[in-house]
Amino acid sequence: MKGLILAGGLATRLRPLTWVTNKHLLPIYNKPMIYYGIETMAKAGIKEVLISSSPDHAGDFANLLKDGSDFGICLYYAVQQKPGGISNAIALAEEFARGEKLLVLLGDNIFNANLNPVVEKFEKQDRGALIYGVKMPTESGQYGVIEIDKSGKVLSIEEKPARPKSNIAQTGIYMYDNRVFDFIRQLKPSSRGELEVTDLNNFYVKEGTLTCEILDWWIDAGTSYDELLHANNLVAEKVKSGEL
Ligand code: G1P
Repeated sequence: MKGLILAGGLATRLRPLTWVTNKHLLPIYNKPMIYYGIETMAKAGIKEVLISSSPDHAGDFANLLKDGSDFGICLYYAVQQKPGGISNAIALAEEFARGEKLLVLLGDNIFNANLNPVVEKFEKQDRGALIYGVKMPTESGQYGVIEIDKSGKVLSIEEKPARPKSNIAQTGIYMYDNRVFDFIRQLKPSSRGELEVTDLNNFYVKEGTLTCEILDWWIDAGTSYDELLHANNLVAEKVKSGEL
């Protein structure tokens, strides 16, 4: 299985912090944000990882991370010419994946889960996809909202719904079989002009092959100054207590 970390975008919500640098290079306590995704890939047992970033900052990632050997993995770099949504960025990995399955991480998602057992199980699976959700304190239409049955099979996902069907938010951790690229070719841009990951995941929902795992905690550090600060404070606490 191959890995893809999405680290592009303009991060307009974090300006002026992101005028001259990429959001994924900002610090989360004692490390640049991108380290978390890379360390997650290494722990998951993924050996080859593609980092997709924006044209202005691709060189900064290469300067910082080099060939990946410091992390025990092999890194490759891709440039997303224009932000076009998560599914548009996943499409960049088609040649790199070479028919293998793909673990996709959004580079601004901070969490501490060992994905290895799930990756190993998913690798043996014939086809389908798997996503991670997290239980929110209240029902919130701020994210993709996942409805699941008792076995973890996904019944529906809605992108930022006005009336959420559950309190489970879709995080930025996705596993796909290699048909993902054919599904992306069938996507149409959403009202915000993006190829949405929720529309992509709904191809698997329709055929009944999308399952969901639940994380203990998760922060989408790229959404606001407050979430960035929250991620810094929580990670500092967990590093000092030895949990991270
Ligand atoms: C994207 C997805 C959304 C998901 C979120 C997680 O939202 O579309 O379903 O819950 O990432 O970070 P965006 O950040 O593009 O608005």
